Amino acid sequence: MDKKIIIANWKSNKNINDAENFITSFAQNINRINLENKQIIIAPSYQLLFSCKNFIEKYNLPISLSVQDVSPFGQGAFTGEVNSYQVKELADFVIIGHSERRELFNENDEILFKKVNEAKNNNLKVVYCLQNSSQKIPNGVDIVAYEPPSAIGSGKPDDPSHVESVFNEISNSFNGKILYGGSVDGDNVRDFIYINSCGGLLIGGASLEVDSFTQILLQW
Ligand code: PGA
Repeated sequence: MDKKIIIANWKSNKNINDAENFITSFAQNINRINLENKQIIIAPSYQLLFSCKNFIEKYNLPISLSVQDVSPFGQGAFTGEVNSYQVKELADFVIIGHSERRELFNENDEILFKKVNEAKNNNLKVVYCLQNSSQKIPNGVDIVAYEPPSAIGSGKPDDPSHVESVFNEISNSFNGKILYGGSVDGDNVRDFIYINSCGGLLIGGASLEVDSFTQILLQW
């Protein structure tokens, strides 16, 4: 069965203790979730990766790990950067071009394309975020996530019929899975997951608590 990709984007939240508590408690819910039709990916901050990986292994959970960003550079004298070579040891996916990176950290196409290049050179799978269908998608991207800025963290998700038309526009130039993100929760998830061309979801706020995240995953 074709699996929907569900990414929990924890953003800049949780310390190691919080992350371990989340995974321990989520492990108790996993048997209730239909995993035939979904692939679960958690995207914590870098410093939580090692501990998340250990806990996922400890409970033998079918969860992959992603990072939320990555350096545009390789190894070397780039103080403060975490590069794709380092990430690959702990995670399989990387989110690049999230709206918050574009807006708060002035990331433009040139930087984002370099990040994709580095990620692909290190065999990471790239989830590339678009704010609208006119933004460029670099070569090598595996998954696209459409996240209109007005829907992110606002409690006001995009209209599902608009999402469907944006998916169609994106699929004119992109072949892989396309996810929707922006104020998805347990009450509205079915509006999006049943859109024909929906490849999955990128979930922020509602992925932070085990209960709200599980509620989403129990809906289909
Ligand atoms: P939200 O965030 O679910 O809190 O709106 C989504 C995202 O920014 O990835």
